[in-house]
Amino acid sequence: MIILGIETSCDDTAISLVNEKGTVLSNVVSSQEVFHKNFGGIVPEIASRKHSELIGYAITETLKIAGKSLEDIDLISVTKGPGLVGSLIIGVETAKAISFALNKPLIGINHLEGHIYSLFLGGPKLSKIKNPFPLIILIVSGGHTELVLMENHLKYRVIGRTRDDAAGEAIDKFARFLGYGYPGGPLIEKLGINGNPEFHKFPHLTFKGSPYEFSFSGLKTAGIYFLEKNPAAVKNNLNDIAASFEKTVVDILTERTIRAAVDYKVKGIGVVGGVSANKRLRKTLTTEAPVEVFLPEKTFSTDNAAMIALAGYRHFERGEKDNLLLDVYSRLEIE
Ligand code: KG4
Ligand code: ZN
Repeated sequence: MIILGIETSCDDTAISLVNEKGTVLSNVVSSQEVFHKNFGGIVPEIASRKHSELIGYAITETLKIAGKSLEDIDLISVTKGPGLVGSLIIGVETAKAISFALNKPLIGINHLEGHIYSLFLGGPKLSKIKNPFPLIILIVSGGHTELVLMENHLKYRVIGRTRDDAAGEAIDKFARFLGYGYPGGPLIEKLGINGNPEFHKFPHLTFKGSPYEFSFSGLKTAGIYFLEKNPAAVKNNLNDIAASFEKTVVDILTERTIRAAVDYKVKGIGVVGGVSANKRLRKTLTTEAPVEVFLPEKTFSTDNAAMIALAGYRHFERGEKDNLLLDVYSRLEIE
């Protein structure tokens, strides 16, 4: 089977062709970064207009790279939420049009479930293990920070999430205060590589009775307050400050994830979402976890449509499909 994946939940217009084994035939991500960077964040109306402009070209390019035509597609899988409604609509309406014109099945997918399936794409060893379940999955992106117990394919239980900001959001705001554009994560990582992570201790909160819950709003405020009050350090120790802030985020994520893995006696840990591209997080978790840690290939850490295509196939295989009434959702639970 050849599955066309369409992902437009945020600011990337992403299209991919994947087969039923999770082999990626082509993967196109048309970044809108240049259109948003002067605004310090994503402007929803610009995002939807650009999706509308770019999506046709992205599909043509994806087919060309794979050497396929529209008629070769067996299933269309599209992100239905959570995300920006104006952006999601462009992807979903395009998917419906293709499904209608080709008379091929259509399926709407939760973006976060898509991120989980980035672990099963192509090369990573997880796709080769017969029964890797149960797994603890840390979903960590610009909009979400969740710990999910994955008991089997398509079977999830959210055991913890952030009470306020997502980890990526805290990093992005911290970077923005330093004058960097969106996304801030890769820039903080780059600055922090040569820095001393012990330079400054930022607050690391834990919640009594809620061991798997996160909060990044206090850390974000403490980070920005530190930058405001210490201009000399910002000038002379920027690398150290970035490393210290990054380390705090990584330590918080690692501590909760390992605790969940031990408590739920899982066979492994998966880390997905944009922040899973972070080298310090990858290294710390891999070193400290008592079970094997599975990570997506870096290209599939950040938003892409290959993960949406594979998750769509898993649902379709179980007999599910949507019709032309498929809607979009700004908020959507994974359970
Ligand atoms: O999954 P994603 O591409 O989009 C959302 O669904 O949100 O995640 C984007 C987030 C942004 O907050 C970005 O700063 C962060 O992922 N990010 C990183 C890195 N690459 C992307 N954070 C830390 N280190 C990175 N290397
Ligand atoms: Zn995402």
